Parts: sequence; C-alpha cells; structure tokens
Amino acid sequence: MADEKKKLSTQDILAMARAQSNAGAEKKAASPAAEADEAGSDAPAPAAPAPASGATPKSTADILAAARAQKQQAAPPAASSGGAAPKSTADILAAARAQSGAKPAAGSSESKPAAKSKPAAKPVSEGDLPPVEEMVKAVTGSGAPQPPKKPKTPVIPVRPARTEAKAEPPRRNFLISLVATPFALAWTLMVLMGGGFTLAMARFMMPNVLVEPPSKFKIGPPSDYGFGTVATKWKSQFGVWIVHTEYQGQKVIYALASVCTHLGCTPNWLDGEQKFKCPCHGSGFYINGINFEGPAPRPLERVGLSLGADGMLEVDKGVKFQEELGQWSDTSSYVTV
Ligand code: FES
Repeated sequence: MADEKKKLSTQDILAMARAQSNAGAEKKAASPAAEADEAGSDAPAPAAPAPASGATPKSTADILAAARAQKQQAAPPAASSGGAAPKSTADILAAARAQSGAKPAAGSSESKPAAKSKPAAKPVSEGDLPPVEEMVKAVTGSGAPQPPKKPKTPVIPVRPARTEAKAEPPRRNFLISLVATPFALAWTLMVLMGGGFTLAMARFMMPNVLVEPPSKFKIGPPSDYGFGTVATKWKSQFGVWIVHTEYQGQKVIYALASVCTHLGCTPNWLDGEQKFKCPCHGSGFYINGINFEGPAPRPLERVGLSLGADGMLEVDKGVKFQEELGQWSDTSSYVTV
C-alpha cells in the first residue's frame, strides 16, 4: 500500500480521498471521530484541509479538529452547557494521540516518534478515555482553583525591653534641673542677681547707726589714781588717759584724749620715759600733754572731768579743752585733789 501511495500523484490521492469521503458521508455524520481516523490515514480532515503540497496523513490541526468533533458528539448536554470544565489544548492533543495511536500516520512528523516508542499500541476507544475533569486535574494538578496565597507578613523586629533607670532622690533631681540646661542656669543666675540687688537696696534705705560709747562715764573715786601716775585702763574702751600730776602749782586730776594732734593717731604712754609717744610720725608729749617733739603742732586735748555727789569722778567726752586757747584753766577740765 505504501508503495502504491508513493507512486500516486497528489491529484490522485485527493480524488481518492474525496470519493471516499462522499461514500462515507453518512458514517461521518454519525461519528466524526471515525472520519477523523479514516481521514488521518488516507485524506485530510474537512475542518483542516490538507495542504496542497502533499498527502500528509495527519497533522496537528487534523488531530485537533477530529478530537473537537468527537468531544462535541460524545459530550453530554449538561457538559456542553458549561457544567464541566473546558478541555485545554494539551488535553485534547493527548486524547487525540491516544486515540490515534492505533493507526499511526506513516508520513506525519509528530506520529513517528510515538510509533517508534510504542510499536504495539492498541486502538483507544472513546470509553477508554478518562473523564475530562480527571484530565484537567492531571494537567493543572488539582481540579479546584487554588486559593490566592496570602502575602507574607513582614517580621517586625522586637524592641528590647528598656531597663528602668535607677530613681534618684527628688532633691538631687531638682538641683540637677537647676543647672542642667543653659536656660535653667540663666534663670537661676537672674533670680540670684535680683535677690542680691533687693537686699542691697534694703540695706541702702536703712539708716546707718553708729554705736559709740556714752560720752559720760564714771571712773571711780580720785583715790584710785595716785599722784604722778597715768592710768591707761580707760584708753582702749573710752580713749582717755587719767593723769594725776601737778599743773601750774596745783595737784590736779584731768583726762587727756588719746588722739595725736598731728594727724589723729593714738600715741602710747611710755612710763619709763614719762612721755606720750606717737608711733606714726614720732610726736612726743609730756605727762601734762604739752607737745615737745615731732610734727604735732599743739598739745593734747583735755575732756571734761568732774567729781560727782557720790564722790566718783565722771568723764564727759562731749566737752574738749585746748591749751593753746587757754581752756585748760576752766574748772570743768580738771578736779583738784
Ligand atoms: Fe602723731 Fe603724726 S599723727 S605724729
């Protein structure tokens, strides 16, 4: 048969196929799959006309057309109405190859490897094919649609737990807050300066009070002061010496102010030299107060002295007597003993 096909021309083969198809028109209408099988061996399928170049037994298009026709015929009305899942192209090709495996095309390029690997393939009937659902499931992996995968939730790193700082005493926190920031330091300095200014103003508004010893004070009876002596016990407290000596032929007691007549220093009584000596510029005064050396321009001054009713000597520093003015002759400047 193969030798005869090789000898026939294309026109002959086409004429034979047309005649064969006309003869089996009724059979084709009943079973398009049988027509497809027959056409696959001898002539091209009606849905896929054979190429003009030659008598190729079965191409991919032919197999697809035959399989679709077989499916439409064999499918139940419910399935055709959309109740079953539609077959994919791979399923249809697999079913068609399985069905056409019994009659492998001699000149088909796709059927040659299958014929070599399965030389003894037996014809597959429609009942041998698995249901469409199973084939779809085998191709897609599962019949039910896969639910969409949930996006992975990014892993948020966990912040390490903070260690509580050791609580400090409130007083220390307050002191630190006073000088911790420049703003607080400025406020603190301003408050301190304002307080100091307020205190200074209050002191300025208060009158100055000079606490001085009383101008009059009692120094005891005249018998406490021996003749020719100078009592210095009242010098530091009241600033006077009590002198018992002879002046102008009279034994008198008088009080001399311990103030140098030069520039106001405090002289010292030198008992060995029997004189008052000023340490500042060296002025010297006799026991009666007359200046005799140094820059002192005049004698020491006397203060008031009187004998009270109680027999006590009383000094009055509020009154002064100067020798150069002749005031030493005043009886208020001495007490006769
Ligand atoms: Fe006494 Fe100058 S103050 S000698």
